[in-house]
Amino acid sequence: MSLRFEQLGKTFVASVSGIDLRRPISTEQQSTLEKALAKYGVLVFRNQPIGDDEQQAFIEKFGPPMNTTLKELATGHPHFYDIGTVDDNGIPTPEIKARQMYMLANQLWHTDGSQVQPPIRLTALHARVLPPEPPPTQFADMHAAWNALPDAQKREIDGLKVEHSIYWSRQKIGMGVDDFSDETREQRAPVDHPLVRTHPLTGRKSLYLASHASHVIGWPIDKGRALIEELTELATQPQFVFSVDWQPHNLVMWDNRWTMHRATPYSGDHPRKMRWCAVRELEPV
Ligand SMILES: [Fe+2]
Repeated sequence: MSLRFEQLGKTFVASVSGIDLRRPISTEQQSTLEKALAKYGVLVFRNQPIGDDEQQAFIEKFGPPMNTTLKELATGHPHFYDIGTVDDNGIPTPEIKARQMYMLANQLWHTDGSQVQPPIRLTALHARVLPPEPPPTQFADMHAAWNALPDAQKREIDGLKVEHSIYWSRQKIGMGVDDFSDETREQRAPVDHPLVRTHPLTGRKSLYLASHASHVIGWPIDKGRALIEELTELATQPQFVFSVDWQPHNLVMWDNRWTMHRATPYSGDHPRKMRWCAVRELEPV
């Protein structure tokens, strides 16, 4: 069984076939998937009825799984967060304000883990329980957005550094510093990242933005925020965006180095559970 990819969007996103994630993947398969993530940004693995052990084994092939230490989203598993409304037994999760705010913040355009250093490189999200009409997840091609910029603006912004902070993104949805646990406040100091990143496998440049992107280092705060807002609007125009639909047991994996994403609104009338895990860069970015 060999891996096959079918491009779904105009410039990025592909479905993957010829792989069964219930079995350990080979080093060759992992290498092919790494190259595919560099080429397509987002990979959709359809109908993969896996559990925690298989999801953990899969993500481990790409690097050490990120420790999921945020108390607000704790699942009891060291490497998973849950996005949804029910626990493993189908019991509704308690309505904790901070947790609900995190779910709401997923609807802002963001890049996973840009608010930490080293940032998150790859994310794998697996659909365990879905409502009858699951809301899609939208992705933006940040390489295509970079390509669309005028050369003069490319020269102006290449080399800039941006401060990313979870407090900035959460402030946008009305969450204050006091709504975070003491442990989270200790773990989540703001960090700096380049505004323009070069992918190590393809050499292609892309914008690196997120809801966490607060301001440009060395620029007046307002001027930097205006630039971040302008670039985010540009990068999320329809021609750069692809909506990934969810089916039961689908796993979607994405490269956070050159894509942004956001959840779309969900009424919460039906149970939903998506299991999230990630690997970080090995070095600061
Ligand atoms: Fe996310």
